[in-house]
Amino acid sequence: MSGIRDILSFPKVYQLWQAPFAHRKLQPVLQHNDLATVRRVLDVGCGPGTNARIFRNRDYLGLDINPRYIAHATRSLASNHGAPCEFRVQDVCEYYPEKTELADFILMNSFLHHIDDENTDRILSRLQNVLSDDGHIHILDLVLPDKVGIPRLLARLDRGEHPRPLEQWREIFSKHFTPVLFEPFQLKALGIPLWNMVYFKGKKRQP
Ligand SMILES: C[S@@+](CC[C@H](N)C(=O)[O-])C[C@H]1O[C@@H](n2cnc3c(N)ncnc32)[C@H](O)[C@@H]1O
Repeated sequence: MSGIRDILSFPKVYQLWQAPFAHRKLQPVLQHNDLATVRRVLDVGCGPGTNARIFRNRDYLGLDINPRYIAHATRSLASNHGAPCEFRVQDVCEYYPEKTELADFILMNSFLHHIDDENTDRILSRLQNVLSDDGHIHILDLVLPDKVGIPRLLARLDRGEHPRPLEQWREIFSKHFTPVLFEPFQLKALGIPLWNMVYFKGKKRQP
């Protein structure tokens, strides 16, 4: 497994692996939101800039722990983004956001299944501080199905060691944010379900 992990840490390899699914994964986000109204994006665990293109002309900050991904994203995307755009090397478990980094669109695409329960709790709690009152957090993540089958096998084989059952995701997200949408969906190839996913859209919890 560590061999696959090492290979996927190269931006081009990761992009090739993700290419057939990257856009489909974002469908629930595109379907339920008007990105033209977004002011500032915080993309947590942004990878090699997989999702940055859909936010062209929007103020954008991407964080990722992998310096190779960040260097690649900066080189290929930052200068022609059309608005301020920064990719920053950051271990999000150690991220203490400044109020100046306030965002109305926080995206976490396929990130939290890499993070253990304790750090997930800390990260989501800190992100409350940078979500604007009128903004939303958008989380897409890998679901561990109860039933034996291809989606469960692939979830188990993923680089991320913390795919969670649907109800556990619901509990985690709702603890920190007021739910607006909680939508399970599947990624398929040739009609065969490969990955079970969930899309969560939430608002800041009011005290
Ligand atoms: C499955 S990839 C998803 C990347 C991107 N969001 C996408 O949609 O393609 C998970 C990302 O989380 C990053 N990551 C894992 N642990 C991290 C941490 N502690 N801090 C920041 N990034 C982390 C990895 O480097 C990787 O880019």
